[in-house]
Amino acid sequence: MAIKAVRGVRDILPSETGRWQRVEAAARQTFESYGYREIRLPVFERTELFARGIGDETDIVKKEMYSFEDRGGDSLTLRPEATAGLLRAYIEHGFQVEAKPVRLYTAGPMFRYERPQAGRYRQFHQANVEALGETNPAVDAEVIAMLMDFFRALGLHDRLALHVNSIGDAADRGVYIARLVEYLRPQATVLCGECQARLGRNPLRVLDCKVPDCQPVIEKAPSILDSLSPEAGRHFERVREYLDALGQAYAVTPRLVRGLDYYVRTTFEVLTTELGAQNAVAGGGRYDGLIERLGGPADPGIGFAIGLERVVLLLGDAEAGSRPLVLLIPLGEAALRRLMPVARAVRQAGVAAELGYGGRKLPRELERANKLGAAYAVIAGDNELATGEAVLRAMSSGEQRRVPIAGLAGELIALAGKEAAR
Ligand code: HAM
Repeated sequence: MAIKAVRGVRDILPSETGRWQRVEAAARQTFESYGYREIRLPVFERTELFARGIGDETDIVKKEMYSFEDRGGDSLTLRPEATAGLLRAYIEHGFQVEAKPVRLYTAGPMFRYERPQAGRYRQFHQANVEALGETNPAVDAEVIAMLMDFFRALGLHDRLALHVNSIGDAADRGVYIARLVEYLRPQATVLCGECQARLGRNPLRVLDCKVPDCQPVIEKAPSILDSLSPEAGRHFERVREYLDALGQAYAVTPRLVRGLDYYVRTTFEVLTTELGAQNAVAGGGRYDGLIERLGGPADPGIGFAIGLERVVLLLGDAEAGSRPLVLLIPLGEAALRRLMPVARAVRQAGVAAELGYGGRKLPRELERANKLGAAYAVIAGDNELATGEAVLRAMSSGEQRRVPIAGLAGELIALAGKEAAR
């Protein structure tokens, strides 16, 4: 029996890679326009980094990590997210001496042992951004605006909603959690089993539960915004003022809690209604104190990650893949030898060209030109070689004209310019 891919792990097929490339290019271009520089990180790290970074009580660390012992006996983990590794690199390479904020981005595969479903995989990809060393709330607003500019660059901004919240500083959260538990405890029996367990372990996560029975209770829960210290409250107010100044629309959603424990103050998520249960396309927030906990300087930080599979899903199938400008169709060996260098010259000019190898009949080759989506076909057999002119066929109209083979490459390159300008 043939071996199949691991459950929850998928191949990204050639029919999809055009969309992936577009998404990756939009991310790169948007981030670099804001001054972010790329950093490339390893896909596995010491297990301890994630336990310390993401939090022992999170679902990710408790039950979703791909951890293993290597042959030297070290416990290693395939990264479930990029922030912890990026901060490890920030500390290790002494980035803190650079002008603040230090702006970095990275992208690549992440690994979480979750139950696979549409939009949720065990290997998935994120584009991840971090701004390090700056507490000014203007950074929060700019980071969020940049995230939305990425979606705008892909024409998706109208289909997404930006939710922002503040979960305060650690002390505020302590106060809030006590209030929340006081509110939830008397109603515990109405909550799902998972939430009853969370009540003791990590009560904030109750707010994030999707089980219908829990919703009426969650809806009436006290708001974390009422428990913010004056400083955290002022910080959030200024984030909102800056977002307003940028003309960036958002909803304030006090029930927005994130699945990672490192956040303080600003948190945000970008949600869609189009992907069923997997409604978060991107999420992030501030994590002042985390760099210090990982053994580095007391530098604050804020960032986000975009789930690239979900963005690609939103783009849909309509997106055209890459197509060649032309299929060169030699009819026979002599014509093949004449057209091979033409194809090469065209490709060297950066124009995509496909070449037949002379073994198939003309109607089959024209069919193939249509399938490839080529705008033109060039046909040459013995007769054409004798006159020194090939037939150039526009595939959409079927119109044909003769072109000297000596000038064919130049003609095709000129046509590519015209196609691009259309
Ligand atoms: P996160 O919310 O865990 O945040 O993940 C960010 C995004 O990754 C999600 O909104 C979702 O689109 C995508 N994602 C997560 N899990 C899966 C999965 N199993 N399959 C497909 N897509 C998935 C973080 O990872 C933080 N490190 C973000 C951050 C950066 N915060 C500050 N800096």
